[in-house]
Amino acid sequence: MCGIVGYIGNDNGIEVVFNGLVRLEYRGYDSVGIGFKENGKIKTIKSVGRIQKSDVAPGMPNLEEKLKEDGKFKFSSHIVIGHTRWATHGAPNERNAHPHVSMSGRFAIVHNGIIENYYTLKKELESKGYKFASETDSEVIAHLIDYFYDSDFLEAVKKTLTKLNGAYSFLVISQKDDVLIGTKKGSPLCVGIGDNEIIISSDEMPFVDRTKKVIYLSDNELVVAQFNGKYDVKSFEGINIEKEIKEVPYDIEAITKGGYKHFMLKEIHEQSMTVKNTFISRVDHIDTMLRDNFPNLPRNINRVIYLGCGTSLYAGMVGMYITERYAHVPSRAEYASEFIYRDPVIFRNDVCIAVSQSGETADTKEALRIVKGKGAYISGIVNTVGSQIARLAGRGMYLHAGPEIGVASTKAFTSQIIAINLFNMLLIDNNSYKQEMINEMKKLPMKIGEVFDTEDYIKDITPEIAKYKSFLYLGRDINYPVALEGALKMKEIAYIHAEGYSSGEMKHGPIALVDENMLSVFIITGEKKIYQKTLNNLIEIKARKGNVLVITDNVGEVKKYLDNDDYVVRVPCTIPQLSPIINIIPLQLLAYYVADYLGREIDKPRNLAKSVTVE
Ligand code: M6R
Repeated sequence: MCGIVGYIGNDNGIEVVFNGLVRLEYRGYDSVGIGFKENGKIKTIKSVGRIQKSDVAPGMPNLEEKLKEDGKFKFSSHIVIGHTRWATHGAPNERNAHPHVSMSGRFAIVHNGIIENYYTLKKELESKGYKFASETDSEVIAHLIDYFYDSDFLEAVKKTLTKLNGAYSFLVISQKDDVLIGTKKGSPLCVGIGDNEIIISSDEMPFVDRTKKVIYLSDNELVVAQFNGKYDVKSFEGINIEKEIKEVPYDIEAITKGGYKHFMLKEIHEQSMTVKNTFISRVDHIDTMLRDNFPNLPRNINRVIYLGCGTSLYAGMVGMYITERYAHVPSRAEYASEFIYRDPVIFRNDVCIAVSQSGETADTKEALRIVKGKGAYISGIVNTVGSQIARLAGRGMYLHAGPEIGVASTKAFTSQIIAINLFNMLLIDNNSYKQEMINEMKKLPMKIGEVFDTEDYIKDITPEIAKYKSFLYLGRDINYPVALEGALKMKEIAYIHAEGYSSGEMKHGPIALVDENMLSVFIITGEKKIYQKTLNNLIEIKARKGNVLVITDNVGEVKKYLDNDDYVVRVPCTIPQLSPIINIIPLQLLAYYVADYLGREIDKPRNLAKSVTVE
C-alpha cells in the first residue's frame, strides 16, 4: 500500500526521503515520486516502476537515475516529501504518481488512503476553475488547500480536512512557508523526532537509523513540523495536544537482509528466534501476564471469534481448532472482508480477536470497529507496535517478531499461533495442560532448527517441483489451515496455481484434477485418528496415479504407499496445538525455492502490497 515520508531539517532531505522510500518498498508500489522546494518553486520528480531498477521499459529512467549524477544526489533541499504509490484511482503512470501539486504551484501533497468523496469535490473545484492533472482522488487535497489558502497555511489545511471523507494520511509542503504538515484519519502516520530534524512517515522504517524517538499520531490529529526539530501536534480543530514520545522497538539491523538473498528467506530462518520472542517473557508468569493482556475478559464467554485476512486469518483458523477442542468454547475464524458486509450477529459475551501482522489491514480494522460497536469484548494479536488495530483493540498481545518486510508473511504466522495458544491458556483452567504447553513451547526453537535440516533436500527437488502446473495442498483438522497457508505462499510468490483443501473434502470434487501436471502436497502429522484419515486420502490419490509430496512426523507409515516420483519431508513431533508452526516451515521453504528457481520477485511479488490499507 502507498507509503509516505517527509523531511524538514538541516541535512539534504532528498537523500533522507529517497532512502526512506526504499525502506517503504516492502509495502508494495507501482510508481514513486519526490517533491521539494528549489529556487522558491516546488519541483517534483516521479517515475513508474521500482525506485532503483529499470523494470518498466528499456531506457526509461528510474527515480534513482533521475535524482543522481555520478552516484551523487544532484538536488538538495531541506523540506522534502516522497511517496510510493499503489494505484487505486487511475493507472500507474507518472501523471498519477505523487506528489500532486496545486494548479497554482503553491502546494504539493503526498497521500495514503482513499478520499471517498473526491468526485464531488473534484466537480466543485472544476466549477471554480481548477484543472486536474491526474486521475487520482488525492489531487483534490492539493487544490482544496490552494482554494482555502488566504495567507495562513495551517488554516487552509484545517479547512480542507473538514471537506474530506474517507481514510487518509497526507503530508503537504508550501512554496512560501518553511513547515511540513502531516495529518491522519484512518491511515497510519508517525513522527520521528531527530536532532534538529523531523521525519514524518507511514511507519518508523524511514527514520529508525536517524532517531528512535517517535510519536504515533491518532486519527483527527495533525503535526506541524518546523526547522530545528520543533513540532506541534494539534487536533483538526487546532487545539494543541501533548503526545507521549515513545521508543522505536527495533534497530536498523532488523530491517536489513543480513546476508540472505531475500527478506523472505531471512524471515523464514528467524523463526526459531521470533517464536521464542513471542512466548519467552510471558510463560514464567503466564497467569498474571494473560490477565494483564486481556483484562476484564467476560466470565461466561459465548464465543471466541478470530478476525483477519490472508495468512492472519489462517492463524485465526488454527486458533478456532484450539479454542473449541481444548478450551471447549465455541469458536470461529472469519474473513474480515466478508464479516464486515453481512451485519453479523454479535453478543456482549463474544470475545473478538483481530489477528494482524501490520495492524493496518483495513478490513480487519473495520471488523474490529463493528464488533466494538456491538459491545463485544475486543482485543488484538498484532505484530506492529502502535499500529491502528493495536490501538483500536486497546488490549491483547504483541508478537515481538520484529518487522516483517517480505510481502509474503512467514514469521508473523508462526508467532501468531504462539500468541493464540497463550491466549487460550487463559481459557483453560488446567495446570497440567499449561505446563505441557509451556514445556513444548520451550522445545520449539530447537525443533524449528531441526526443520532446517530438510532445506537442502527441498532445494534439490525444486527443479522437479517447479515443473508442476498446479498444486493441491491437503490437510485435516488443525492442518487444514496449514494447507491453506502453504498454498497461499506458493500462489503469491511463485505465481503457480495452488489450492488449499481439507483432505476429507478431496473426494467431493478436487480428486478429478489428479493428473501428471498436478502435485498433491499432504500435511500428515498429529493424533492417530487424524493421521490415519489423512493417510487414507493420500492412498486414494496414489490409487489414481497422482504424485505427492508429504510433510510428516511419521515417515515409516507414509513411505509404504509412495513410489519414486513422490517426495517426503520429515518434521519433528510436537503437540497438535503447536504443530502448524513446525509444519508450515517446509512449505514456506518450498514456495521460496520454487519462486527463486523461477526468477520471481520474491520480496515484492507482482500486484501485492505488504499492508492492505483499503477495503
Ligand atoms: O498485516 P495483516 O496480517 O493484517 O495482513 C493480512 C494479509 O493481507 C496478509 O496476511 C497477506 O495475505 C500476505 N500477503 C500473506 O502472505
